[in-house]
Amino acid sequence: MKDANSSRSAHHHGSRDAFGSSFGVLVALAGSAVGLGNLWRFPYLVGENGGAAFIIIYLAFVILIGIPMLMSEFIIGRRSQANARGAFNKLAPGSRWGIAGILAVICCILILSFYSVVGGWGIEYLFKAFRFDFTRGGDSAALSSIFSDFAASSWQPLVCHTLFLLLSGLIVILGVKNGIEKFSKVMMPLLFLIIIGIAVRSLTLPGAGAGIDYLFRPDWSEVTANTFLAALGQAFFSLSLGSGMAITYGSYVSRKENIVSISSQTALADTLFALIAGCAIMPAVFAYGISPGEGPGLVFITLPHIFSQLPLGGVIAILFFVALLLAALTSSISLLEVIVAFCIEEFHIKRRTAVVLSLSILWILGCLCSLSQGMLSGWKIFDKTIFDLFDFVSANVLMLIGGLLVVLFVGWKLGRQVIHDELTNSGALRIPVWLLDTITFLVRYLAPAAIITIAVFQWI
Ligand code: TRP
Repeated sequence: MKDANSSRSAHHHGSRDAFGSSFGVLVALAGSAVGLGNLWRFPYLVGENGGAAFIIIYLAFVILIGIPMLMSEFIIGRRSQANARGAFNKLAPGSRWGIAGILAVICCILILSFYSVVGGWGIEYLFKAFRFDFTRGGDSAALSSIFSDFAASSWQPLVCHTLFLLLSGLIVILGVKNGIEKFSKVMMPLLFLIIIGIAVRSLTLPGAGAGIDYLFRPDWSEVTANTFLAALGQAFFSLSLGSGMAITYGSYVSRKENIVSISSQTALADTLFALIAGCAIMPAVFAYGISPGEGPGLVFITLPHIFSQLPLGGVIAILFFVALLLAALTSSISLLEVIVAFCIEEFHIKRRTAVVLSLSILWILGCLCSLSQGMLSGWKIFDKTIFDLFDFVSANVLMLIGGLLVVLFVGWKLGRQVIHDELTNSGALRIPVWLLDTITFLVRYLAPAAIITIAVFQWI
């Protein structure tokens, strides 16, 4: 089976790397999905968009659009056994669909540029936690300035950002099976344990009830058109959609795996993690009277306050930032792998060369992002700093276009029969016809319609 696969996709550098086990596939995918999107982006979006109502809309998008799109990307990757661009070119030779793959690679470059800066902040905060900086009894003003002082200084964030990129590079250089899969297998279970532990601590704080109410009792009066935009954007970001991740990882998956169950399990793990992270953060936010609508700084600005007041706060701070760093790394390696797989196969270079090349470009772009928080904050394009611009263009433009192209390609270019074949592994798996038809409908009609509607609202 494996030999048949690799000879079919004969490359100039021999057989392709691949995942070694079903569990490995699941943890690698869940590792990509679970990241700063869950720990940093989700809580602050929930806070800004009124809590439970946002979560319910988000869940609906994950099920109706996220999972079918994940399956679509999987189909493209597994069927072609190639990188994001090569995949489109193989399935639709001589067409322009390859551009969709190039967009995906550009999207990953932009995301990883600022993602590694935030990952670098995570490294710095972990150092601070080990020095018990948050629990040393500084006053509130001192705690508040920790983040702004650090982010605005120049060399410290650059060192941390470099370190974060090097760590990601080290794992990716080892390859899919020996690097990405092995790392995820150990780190993902650890990550879940840590975050569950912190959630339990947070939920048992006096006054935690208000946080739970906020997370699970919807207040529909807060819902506006913007809530829908934010929820769809978050579903895309959190599931790593529209940017070639599941195409690339799917290309390392054997033809025996069940795409329907892998995709659902990935989405389930990601959603559970987001909810548990919400349970870890929101009760503490309420118990200590901090505003949930604090914005992107929620994790980095408010958590130090919380740790400083929490019994055992010093230890919890260490655990939390270990979790944040692990979550960020298992996601950054997936972003890097999209870029590296593209370079290896399209430029016919070795993995090692591809990693060095990618890291060099990412390092320069990341330095610009990092400095745009301080020294270069005056450099604005369309009234945004470089950091904000990369974030906006990737999450609000490229991922939407990429996701739209993916569902159109699978739904209309490959078509219904191919979807049924791939989801059932040519009839080997028993999947009810109503389910296949529902998925096909979501891929062909609902997902494109929803994306176009929301994009139109966003861009007008
Ligand atoms: N999903 C990850 C998170 O929640 C981030 C991520 C990894 C990502 N790969 C991606 C986002 C590809 C967009 C595209 O943190």
